[in-house]
Amino acid sequence: MPLYNKLKRPQSRHKKTVPPYSRLADYYDEVMSHVNYKNWADYLIDAASRNIREFETVTDLACGTGRLAYYLAESGYNVTGVDSVESMVDQAINRQYTGNRKPEYFTGDLRHPAPVKNQDLVVCIYDSINYLINEIDVGKFLSSVLQIISKKGLLIFDCSTEQNSLSHFNGYEAVDSIEDALLFRRAYYDRKSRIQNNLFEIYPEEDNNMYFEHHIQRIWSIQKIKELIKNNGFQLMAVYGGFTFHRGSESDDRVQFIAKPL
Ligand SMILES: C[S@@+](CC[C@H](N)C(=O)[O-])C[C@H]1O[C@@H](n2cnc3c(N)ncnc32)[C@H](O)[C@@H]1O
Repeated sequence: MPLYNKLKRPQSRHKKTVPPYSRLADYYDEVMSHVNYKNWADYLIDAASRNIREFETVTDLACGTGRLAYYLAESGYNVTGVDSVESMVDQAINRQYTGNRKPEYFTGDLRHPAPVKNQDLVVCIYDSINYLINEIDVGKFLSSVLQIISKKGLLIFDCSTEQNSLSHFNGYEAVDSIEDALLFRRAYYDRKSRIQNNLFEIYPEEDNNMYFEHHIQRIWSIQKIKELIKNNGFQLMAVYGGFTFHRGSESDDRVQFIAKPL
């Protein structure tokens, strides 16, 4: 709770409840500036190389503002990014590229097939799967991936664990003073329903509104995701802990699932 007491909420704002990421999109890169997406891309490339021989086409599902896609493209892959929130996709499209392989972006839902075929590698990172809150939706996600992945392709996605929620995001409060806005964050976890709630209050300097986003995530157990992978046309290759190649467990904050089509 670093600056919470020092920075006060601006008064007399009109509260506008908006869908997750619709307003946060403008500030997402700044809020996530601590995340090393280059290392994340390198980790995924390493994990993929251990499980498939060669790959060229990569689709990043729930790609957000495209920072991972940027580094995958810089590494020479032919990258497509898809996200359901248009303002996140806009940020990705407007990103400056130095390389000559700019990713292609689409707006689309994790539960529907992306507009690509025969992808060698499909990734979905940074808790994005946790936004699918019931088993049917995770099943739809896996069936949709089956429709866009090549027979010898690989799927890699991560989940945030209950350990992560309990240790870092239960009763959490913080405030960020970012360019042109104040951003208040609260998070709490309901153990019974395994639902993680993340609340964002965004106070842009330029208007008199406070934009409120309530993000709801399901904290899946490793066992349940393993079952869903097996029941939806995939073979589980590995579960890794964090950004390692060690077997992942419920005591990791994040686990990586590596699967290939049956
Ligand atoms: C924590 S962000 C991660 C974004 C990006 N992968 C990254 O690493 O920066 C979660 C992302 O999932 C996206 N998302 C959530 N539910 C989705 C769905 N049903 N279909 C597609 N994208 C979704 C959000 O729009 C958001 O961009």
